[in-house]
Amino acid sequence: MALKAAFIGGGNMGGALVRGLIARGWPARNLSVGETDPAKRTELEELGVRALGDNAEAVAGADIVVVAVKPQVMGATLQPLAGVFAQRTPVVLSIAAGIRIADIQSWCGPGVPVVRAMPNRPALNNAGASGMYAPPGTSEPHRKLAADVLGAVGTTVWVPAEELIDVVTALSGSGPAYFFLLAELMADAAAGLGMERPAARELAIQTLFGAGKMARDGDGDLVRLRAEVTSKGGTTEAAVRAFDAANLRVIVAAALQAATDRGRELAQTFGQPGK
Ligand SMILES: NC(=O)c1ccc[n+]([C@@H]2O[C@H](COP(=O)([O-])OP(=O)(O)OC[C@H]3O[C@@H](n4cnc5c(N)ncnc54)[C@H](OP(=O)(O)O)[C@@H]3O)[C@@H](O)[C@H]2O)c1
Repeated sequence: MALKAAFIGGGNMGGALVRGLIARGWPARNLSVGETDPAKRTELEELGVRALGDNAEAVAGADIVVVAVKPQVMGATLQPLAGVFAQRTPVVLSIAAGIRIADIQSWCGPGVPVVRAMPNRPALNNAGASGMYAPPGTSEPHRKLAADVLGAVGTTVWVPAEELIDVVTALSGSGPAYFFLLAELMADAAAGLGMERPAARELAIQTLFGAGKMARDGDGDLVRLRAEVTSKGGTTEAAVRAFDAANLRVIVAAALQAATDRGRELAQTFGQPGK
C-alpha cells in the first residue's frame, strides 16, 4: 500500500512540498494537509489532496507528518496531536528554523521519531537545498521517507550532528541572498564602468544562473571548474587576484560565522515556544 504523508501548514513550504510530491508521482489522495487558512485549503483541494481545518484528522493514519508552520506556533500546534501520534506513530519531519529535536519530541510524546531539516527558499522553484539531521536510532525507512519528501523539491544532505543545522542555515538557508548580493555588486560595478544598468543586471543574473547550472551539472569539483574558466594571465585571473588581495576568503568565513551565531541566538530566543 502506498505511503501516506500529512502536512501541518500548507503555506509557502508546505504547499511547495505537496506540489513537488505530486509532480514526482506521489498519489494526491495519499496526501493530506492540516491548514488553518480556508483559502489555502481550497487551493490545495484543487490539487486533489485532502485539506482539513482539523490537524488531528489530517495526521491520523499518516506514515510521515511534515510540520511546516512558523517556529513560534510549533509547540501549540504539536502538543494537541500527541494522543493521535500515540495511536499510530508516524515519523515527524520538522522544517521549522531553530526548533530543537528535544523540544519537538517533548511536544509529540514519547517514542515519536523526529527528523529535522532546513530547506531553503529555492525549494519553491523546485531547486531547493536541504540539510537534514536524524538522531541516532532513527530507522532507515524513516530517514529515507523524510529525505524522499524533501527530495521532491531539490537536493538533500544529511549532517551528523544537530548543531550543524545552524551551519546549514548559514550556508544554504541564507546562501541565496549572498549570491544575489554578489550579482547586484557585479551589476553595480559594471554600471560604474559605463554599462547601462538594466543590461548589466541581465548579464549578472544570467551569469549567476549559468554558473549555477555549470556547477550543478558538473562533478562537484569547484576548484577545477574555476580553473577551467580562468586562463593564465587573463581577465578572470586579474579579478580573482583582486578578490584575494581584499581577503574574500576571510570575509566569507566571517559572514557564515555571523549567520551561524545569529541562528544559535534565535534558537535560544525561541526556547520552547507555545508551551
Ligand atoms: N519559506 C522559506 O523559505 C523557509 C525556508 C526554510 C524553512 N522554513 C520553515 O518552514 C516553516 C513554514 O514556513 P512558510 O514560509 O511555509 O510559512 P507560511 O507560508 O506562513 O505557512 C505556514 C502555514 O501554516 C498555517 N498555520 C498556522 N498555524 C497553523 C496550525 N496550528 N495548524 C495548521 N496550519 C497552521 C498558516 O496559516 P496562517 O497564514 O493563517 O497563519 C500558513 O498557511 C517555518 O517553520 C519556517 O521556519 C521556511
